[in-house]
Amino acid sequence: MSKNQMVVAALTAVVPELSPAEIDEKMETPKTTKLGDWAFPTFTLAKLYKKAPQQIAADLVEKIDKSNFEKVVATGPYINFFLDKMATAKLTIASILEAGEHYGDNQDGQAGHVTIDMSSPNIAKPMSMGHLRSTVIGNSLANITAKNGYQPVRINHLGDWGTQFGKLIYAYKTWGNEAEVKDDPIGTLLRYYVEFHEKAKADDSLNDAGRAWFKKLEDGDPEAQELWTWFRNESLKEFTTIYDRLGIDFDSFNGEAFYNDKMDGVVNQLVDKKLLVKSQGAEIVDLSDIDPNLTPAMIKRSDGATLYMTRDLAAAIYRKETYNFVKSLYVVGGEQREHFVQLRAVLSLMGMPWADDIEHIAFGLITFNGKKMSTRKGDVVLLKDVLDDAHQLALAQIQEKNPDLANKELVAEQVGAGAVVFHDLMNDRKNNFDFNLEEVVRFEGDTGPYVQYTNARAQSILRKAQREIDLTDLDLDDDQTWDIVTTLGNFPQTVKRAWDNREPSVIAKYALLLARNFNKYYANSKILTNDQQLNARLALVAAVSTVLTESLRLLGVQAPSEM
Ligand code: ARG
Repeated sequence: MSKNQMVVAALTAVVPELSPAEIDEKMETPKTTKLGDWAFPTFTLAKLYKKAPQQIAADLVEKIDKSNFEKVVATGPYINFFLDKMATAKLTIASILEAGEHYGDNQDGQAGHVTIDMSSPNIAKPMSMGHLRSTVIGNSLANITAKNGYQPVRINHLGDWGTQFGKLIYAYKTWGNEAEVKDDPIGTLLRYYVEFHEKAKADDSLNDAGRAWFKKLEDGDPEAQELWTWFRNESLKEFTTIYDRLGIDFDSFNGEAFYNDKMDGVVNQLVDKKLLVKSQGAEIVDLSDIDPNLTPAMIKRSDGATLYMTRDLAAAIYRKETYNFVKSLYVVGGEQREHFVQLRAVLSLMGMPWADDIEHIAFGLITFNGKKMSTRKGDVVLLKDVLDDAHQLALAQIQEKNPDLANKELVAEQVGAGAVVFHDLMNDRKNNFDFNLEEVVRFEGDTGPYVQYTNARAQSILRKAQREIDLTDLDLDDDQTWDIVTTLGNFPQTVKRAWDNREPSVIAKYALLLARNFNKYYANSKILTNDQQLNARLALVAAVSTVLTESLRLLGVQAPSEM
């Protein structure tokens, strides 16, 4: 995708010595619009043509086909292009309608794999708002990588191993009950976990008992294994209902337990490379050579148990071997920053040249109506409840605005879930933000429903018009459409920027801008008036809808055609 196809085409015709990509690379935006929309410096042509740049600029301006431009002038060594609004609109709209959902695709990624560690909730606990953030940011980044020509691999690194499962097994065996767990698995397991911590405060021997059960689990005790498998399956079932409601699929559910048999290999490599040292009974990798401020990475606890870090080392190596990724992303809250700095540091000490391709995609905290959540205290906002409430709020607005809508329940689900996802993605990911559901599900303002509603409005215009759009008749002479046209034209570079910054919010902000531009135009013009430019206006509306729908898809949000 070039910066401007018309400028590149006009220059390619008169400077055949340069490829279109080389021309594109040299194009600049002038400091002021008085100097036009695009400028091309001729310095590099001086050697080739054996002439002064000023002379080259003047000569080329003579030869350039100016029919697509308002004017083309030489200003010293620069050729300045002033876009013709009508020609630009025509070209932009035609290229969108021809490409459809592929408008804005690029092949920069050359089909390289990008693994995306996302969601990764801990089993036997409800999925938190933090895990929701990881899920939706990860999913959107996966869509964005694909649009930039990479192949995303969505990996759910389930938290399915660790001492807490010993505690849970102990709690279940001591005061648990099978029917209760079957009835409400996560709710009940969470309650056991909370009760365990309350009881352990008074009686420390519970902690020892919990550790003993985890040791049994690690040693392959059949009863411990069976309970663990059961808890894991029940948890996955509940997580899956949320993933289904959000429309998210994973390529892998290899969680922490998957790496149990791969850990010795990692530890052996660390020993061979003389990186493992004993410290207060534990085994660590000292990282002070890489950064004197970095605390050592803990590889084995004093009782010989492996740790979160050890499993992440095994996982990183496994992913490189399995997918041969070009980038490996970890969408995990900012509070784990040091962990990922350590992970990269250990891998680079191990001599893995790809350690630099590991990226921690950090994000900020989310509070719910001002409240932070803590699973230990059982003080949680359940995602299922959030989605249910969002659904109800969306439904209420649909009842009011469009009482005759046929599939209200389905649309309310698309709008409710879409609102939650959009709100999460529209802020720069590193920012903290509060979540007020009433605000989030509003049909006006900076919300997902606003973008969806704008798209449904565009779709409704196209339905009312009841005619095929003629791509050969796109002359649109209307200054009011210029903001829309330039925004539409910026979509391909927006797609790139979203990936370069690893920032879905770039797409969300873009969608809001396009929606606002379109609504302003909609309020001030009679789109459906039957005059000479009706076809061109409808084409513009269709182009807006195509790009809004595609922007929403990149965010993982549905675009109902009516709401
Ligand atoms: N389960 C972890 C948590 O809830 C997140 C795991 C992130 N991924 C990873 N490879 N460490 O904190």
